[in-house]
Amino acid sequence: MTDLANALIDRLPKAELHLHIEGTLEPELMLALAKRNNVKLPYETVEDVAKAYEFDCLQDFLDLYYMGMSVLQTEQDFHDLTWAYLLKVHADSLTHVEMFFDPQAHTDRGVAFETVLGGIVSALEKAKNELGITSKLIMCFLRHLPEEQAFDALECACKHKDHIHAVGLDSSEKGFPPPLFERVFEASRKEGFIPVAHAGEEGPAENVRTALDVLKVERVDHGNSALTDPALVQRLAKQRTPLTMCPLSNLRLKGIPTIGDSPVKKAMDAGLLVTVNSDDPSYFGGYLNDNYRAIHKALDLDEHDLITLAKNSFAASFIPDREKQGHIDAIDKVVEDVKKG
Ligand code: ADE
Ligand code: ZN
Repeated sequence: MTDLANALIDRLPKAELHLHIEGTLEPELMLALAKRNNVKLPYETVEDVAKAYEFDCLQDFLDLYYMGMSVLQTEQDFHDLTWAYLLKVHADSLTHVEMFFDPQAHTDRGVAFETVLGGIVSALEKAKNELGITSKLIMCFLRHLPEEQAFDALECACKHKDHIHAVGLDSSEKGFPPPLFERVFEASRKEGFIPVAHAGEEGPAENVRTALDVLKVERVDHGNSALTDPALVQRLAKQRTPLTMCPLSNLRLKGIPTIGDSPVKKAMDAGLLVTVNSDDPSYFGGYLNDNYRAIHKALDLDEHDLITLAKNSFAASFIPDREKQGHIDAIDKVVEDVKKG
């Protein structure tokens, strides 16, 4: 990798738009919280955890993801988790994050919605004050659970509209297509939450289409399988619907055989508003800049592509339009500085 590409990846201001906070739980913190909260895990050491992180598909990962998060019990735990992520990506020049959280995975095991939200929000506020990182929160509905339970989460979210900006749909895609959640998405939109959804990660292009048509999403998380459908690609390009892609996640969940098969460049070349993200960085072997580095090499991206991806991350964000230009200007300034050497 050239010095210029390396410096650009390190220093370009970036937004991350596809990040599950529970997926940032590093093995060290998992083991420490297990001890602090007296939770039994099938791991004794960091090496045991690393050994277990071999996935053949999304469900393999989700099983360990839900087990791992059982150590998160108090508001302080959620704060510590979120703060650790923010400190890490501050070093990656991240300046804005739109973060998913999965409240049903916590309320289901007796942890109150407010405990989860309180810990995350206090860390996000600290990051705004101390690191200059801005944020929006996206509450995800778990698609493997019945829609009634999603309605319970929505009822909680309605009490915290000052902190929750959007709703999403995650967990097992196979067998749980978007139309199962038509009613709760309609209710969420009526309450003013912006809709997004995971679609086309393991499921067909049809899931992307129904996420758009039935859930009326404004952004598609992953969206890989859309590329198999030329009419859908044309529609996404025309509407400027963003795709939040996650290269290392796709690799580790065997959605792609090699990182060179990541659809990011193909999607850019087709005129899509594509962004690069880490998804669950602690489980997939890399944070935001690791994802940029992996595809830069494997897809032979040039410096213009890297700059486009950084700009796309703000263009595709839920930052008000009037504030986006400031972020684009900050990118141009860094490019100028990096080129001066
Ligand atoms: N929850 C956390 N990470 C996820 C992913 N990659 N796909 C679906 N649900 C998730
Ligand atoms: Zn995801």
